[in-house]
Amino acid sequence: MTDYFIEFYKRLDRQGPGDDKYTELAFRLLEQLPRNPRILDVGCGSGKQTLVLARIAECEITAVDVFDCLLDKLEESSLKQKLKGSITTLNASMFELPFDDEQFDLIWSEGSIYIMGFENGLREWKRLLKPGGYLVASEITWLQKDIPEELLDFWNAAYPEIGTLSEKLSVIEKYGYRPLAHLTLPGYGWQKNYYSLMEANKKDYLDQFGHVQEARMVVENELELEMNLYHRYKEFYSYVYYVIQKV
Ligand SMILES: C[S@@+](CC[C@H](N)C(=O)[O-])C[C@H]1O[C@@H](n2cnc3c(N)ncnc32)[C@H](O)[C@@H]1O
Repeated sequence: MTDYFIEFYKRLDRQGPGDDKYTELAFRLLEQLPRNPRILDVGCGSGKQTLVLARIAECEITAVDVFDCLLDKLEESSLKQKLKGSITTLNASMFELPFDDEQFDLIWSEGSIYIMGFENGLREWKRLLKPGGYLVASEITWLQKDIPEELLDFWNAAYPEIGTLSEKLSVIEKYGYRPLAHLTLPGYGWQKNYYSLMEANKKDYLDQFGHVQEARMVVENELELEMNLYHRYKEFYSYVYYVIQKV
């Protein structure tokens, strides 16, 4: 990710499609969490979901990302809000999480597991969970068959691990997790909560950086190309929140 990419993303209040209500819904499904659970939020960005979790539950969250500017934004927001839980930020890579085994009751990953790949993430992060610990990850998923070729080409280049619900469930079982529930993010989680924020920030961003080709490419690729495809083909894919438990 380039500096211009981050400069665009740090202006947004979330860095991927999602929705506070779905974060809360997924969390409420974790009926056997202990009191004051230890939570690892991987690829937290500026922490939209971290703040939801800390608002609704007494918990200790370690929020991890590789960009200090996003972690700083999360810290600032957490100071301004009344939270039940505590949040500690850490600059670390999801590829090398600096924790001993069986430290966490819950791993949370909204819109971020794709960075190391769903399979890789499930395999590598499992050791960090206590026995019976939970993992909630939102992952881009095909919602129907017969995908139009243009869309297939785009996603096969962007994220070849995109798959159907049944393919994702079989990966979950393969790596020793029990699937508890899955929730499909509705369209407003993309359009209202994400793309429209990008649209709203585009002018300011281009006023500041529009003279740089790399910055214009961020807007063209991330916003215009991806959003345009989403509008034409939104019934074919979405993020699905997978709520799973270490067996
Ligand atoms: C699509 S954003 C999702 C952010 C946030 N969870 C949300 O939904 O708003 C992916 C996040 O992963 C972070 N990221 C990228 N590479 C990473 C890595 N190697 N380790 C940890 N986080 C990473 C990015 O900085 C970004 O904040």
